[in-house]
Order: sequence, then structure tokens, then C-alpha cells
Amino acid sequence: MNTKIVSVDNFMDNDEGYKQAVDILKNGGVVAFPTETVYGLGAIATDEQAVQKIFEAKGRPSDNPLIVHIGNKADVRKYASGISEAAEKLMDAFWPGPLTLVFEKIPGVVAPNVTPGVSTVGLRMPDHPVALRLLRELGMALAAPSANRSGKPSPTEAAHVEEDLKGLIPLILDGGQTGIGLESTVIDMTMSPPVILRPGGATQEMIEEVIGPVQFNAKETGGKTPRSPGMKYLHYAPEAPLYVIVPDEEKIRNAVTTLKNEGKKVAVIGPDEFKVTDADWYFAVGPIHDSEKMAVNLYRALRQCDLTDADIILAVETDLNGFGAAVMNRLLKASEGKNYTD
Ligand code: TXA
Ligand code: MG
Repeated sequence: MNTKIVSVDNFMDNDEGYKQAVDILKNGGVVAFPTETVYGLGAIATDEQAVQKIFEAKGRPSDNPLIVHIGNKADVRKYASGISEAAEKLMDAFWPGPLTLVFEKIPGVVAPNVTPGVSTVGLRMPDHPVALRLLRELGMALAAPSANRSGKPSPTEAAHVEEDLKGLIPLILDGGQTGIGLESTVIDMTMSPPVILRPGGATQEMIEEVIGPVQFNAKETGGKTPRSPGMKYLHYAPEAPLYVIVPDEEKIRNAVTTLKNEGKKVAVIGPDEFKVTDADWYFAVGPIHDSEKMAVNLYRALRQCDLTDADIILAVETDLNGFGAAVMNRLLKASEGKNYTD
């Protein structure tokens, strides 16, 4: 399959690009498009065969449910029931935006493979002009996971989508780099208090300001059946083993020296300020303690590591508050919990 990449820049006449995307989707195909978090790979959420193509292109396990993207807030009632007052408040505060709300689904509306094995459906209204225009011109909801091959970091640029899915999908709408850089927060509104299943672009602090205390699902790496099925899969893993390391320039320098003495090639993902010139590669991801900037740049840095022949990656941790919770959640997965302590 030939993969077309169409730029949908704000300053150009993009009618043709959207028309192509809508045609492909209406004919049961898939299209990659930017959202404010990461690029998504969309198919019409009520078309089972089209949704099947998402799983095939991504190599995604078929029991992992997809987020349904809507272009208007009111559409939530077409798909979900039991919408609480707290949920209304969250939708008012965050939509369009990086918050996915999980509700009881109205049976028989979305295709069965969108919500395999669960009685719920995750919905969000993305805050990106391209995603919103696409949804509105289409007039239907899109089931859309991140547009990466399963196990790769989510794409924050059209080039990342191309890297992973070239030849497997017909069209990528290129809207430039995504603004947030990490996926949406997923919150289970069927529980009381609601439970954050995946930290992301809407922080726990921001959510609690609107509806009061929520829970954080801490069991995601434990043995119990995860409530968000995606949590049980290895995610975001670069090719070389990744270790999280404390933000101490001298400790990092020593680690690099030790590893290089062992004959290893070392890549470091760290703040702009550290000058670890001995590292074979240093990918700077923003000012120290700025977890929001780190979120923007982390996935690109992980992909850059994969383009090197590093034997080991050291990723400098950030603070846990605000965006840091989501950043450290992704690093925990990419490292499988490994910390560099030596
Ligand atoms: O920012 C995002 O959320 C991006 C953009 C494209 O919207 N999408 C995204 O989708 O990250 P995906 O499929 O890569 O991750 C969706 C996560 C998975 O962990 C999945 O298990 C969980 O959300 N999820 C989806 N529907 C769910 C449901 N009904 N119940 C529990 N978890 C659900
Ligand atoms: Mg994903």
C-alpha cells in the first residue's frame, strides 16, 4: 500500500486533504491524524471491519479497547450511559482536551472490537484543529489509538507515524508536532470516587480542582487483572535497556564513565543544563524540573535512541507532581522499573 502524507497546515487551503481523509474513512479505511496529545490512527467507530484494520496496522492485541473520539460534547450521550454530575463537570472543564472518560456503554452502538471484553467505552473530544475539523466533516465518531506500531512510543510527529506505519495505511494528515506529547489521561467514571487508569495530559491536580479527590490506579504493574486493559502490555519500550537515574549531574557522569569502561555505548535522555559530554549521545528534553517540556520531547528522544546503536539508555527522572506523574509513568514502563544505582 502506498502511504500518502498530506500537510494540513493552518495557512494553506486544505480542503482536498480533508476530503481525501473523509473519503477513505467512509469507504472503511484508516487515516492517521494529529491530536493535541499524540497522533491517532482513526477508523469509523461503528464500522467493525474498518476498526479491524487499526489492529492489523498497529499489530495491536485485539483485547485492548480503543478510545472513541467525538467532535461535539453532546455526542457523548450517543455512546455512554450513567453520565454523572462529576462527569459533566469534567467534560465542561476539559473538553475539548486531553481527558478520556470511561462510561458504561450503550450496547450495540460502537463496533464490538472497539470495546472488546468490557461493558464500558472511553470517550474524548480532542483539542486539535485538524482532529476537530476531520471529525466534523466526517460527522461520525472515530475509534483511534495512538498511531504507532504496538510497543513503540506514541508518535508526536507525522514522521514518526511514517516510520512505523508506512506501507500499512493509506493516509497521514501532517499537522506538525503535537503540543502535549503524551497521551490523554484516562479516568474511569463508573467508579466512585473516579479512578485514574492512565495519567496523562490532564493532571490529577487539575482534575481534583474540578471534582475533588479521585483515586489513582496503583495496581497497574501488579498481577491483578488491570482495569484498563492496555496497562498489562509492555509499552513505550526502546530497543536498548533503559534505566532511570536521579537528576544529579555528577552521578550521571560517573555512571557514563563506568558503563563506557565496560565497553558499552551510552545514550542519555536528560535536561538541557547537564553537560555529560562523555555520553555517546545526549538527548536534551528541556529545562531541569520542567516536566511539561519533558512530556513534549520524551517520545521523540526515545525514538532517537532507537536510531543509535546504544547498548544502554539512562533517562533522568523528573519531579512527580503535575505533568511529572505522566512522564514518570511512561519512564517506569520504558524501564520496566529499572533504576540505575551505582
Ligand atoms: O491521547 C490519547 O489518548 C491518544 C490520542 C490518539 O487520542 N490515544 C491513545 O489511545 O493513547 P491508545 O489506544 O494508545 O490508549 C488508550 C488507553 C489504553 O490503555 C486502553 O486500554 C484504555 O485507554 N482504554 C480505552 N478504552 C477503555 C475502556 N473502555 N476501559 C478502560 N480502559 C480503556
Ligand atoms: Mg497507544
